[in-house]
Amino acid sequence: MKRISLVNAAHDLVRDILRPGDIAIDATVGNGHDTVFLAGQVGPFGQVYGFDIQQAAIDSTREKFGKTGLSNCLTLIHASHADMDNKIPVQLHGKISVIMFNLGYLPGSDKNVITQTDSTLAALTVAKRILAVSGIITLLAYPGHLGGEQETDQVEKWCSHLDTRQFEISTIYSTEHKDSAPRLFVIRKLCEGFD
Ligand SMILES: C[S@@+](CC[C@H](N)C(=O)[O-])C[C@H]1O[C@@H](n2cnc3c(N)ncnc32)[C@H](O)[C@@H]1O
Repeated sequence: MKRISLVNAAHDLVRDILRPGDIAIDATVGNGHDTVFLAGQVGPFGQVYGFDIQQAAIDSTREKFGKTGLSNCLTLIHASHADMDNKIPVQLHGKISVIMFNLGYLPGSDKNVITQTDSTLAALTVAKRILAVSGIITLLAYPGHLGGEQETDQVEKWCSHLDTRQFEISTIYSTEHKDSAPRLFVIRKLCEGFD
């Protein structure tokens, strides 16, 4: 059976949206794979803002960028994505084309440092506001690890409360037919809000 890579599915969706010169956010930098991917789409004149609470993730991603020639496109922020509102320059609010989340823990690192429901939802609430019209949020969630199930449920619930006149929400499931299988939430901003 062909297995869908949800990371690749997210990249395919993002590739359709991003253009050179755009602004994107990687809300969970980790080992920097998504960050490098985003910079490759928006470079050489666009900008990627990357958030992570772990210094090791920031350091390894900065090093990774050294080899890409795209360091000018990168702003790494050692802070929680819940602080996005303050950390992203206000003049860019409403102009962010893509915001990617990849929840859970940093592979190869301390599995106790995981994304937390409260900060994830706080970040999503800012993300939906600062996203550009026609932009997307992708969020890869892993219900299979401790804490991941509750976080995934809460993200799903948060999505279900979005105004469907303003946002189109879709969920892509992996081909593993288990409740614990990862899933990709895609939130597309159709227009500005009504209030
Ligand atoms: C699954 S990893 C991300 C993988 C990454 N996108 C990649 O391509 O390698 C999740 C990351 O989220 C980070 N994280 C956890 N809580 C966070 C928070 N509140 N704000 C920002 N990053 C956070 C972890 O430190 C970890 O590095």
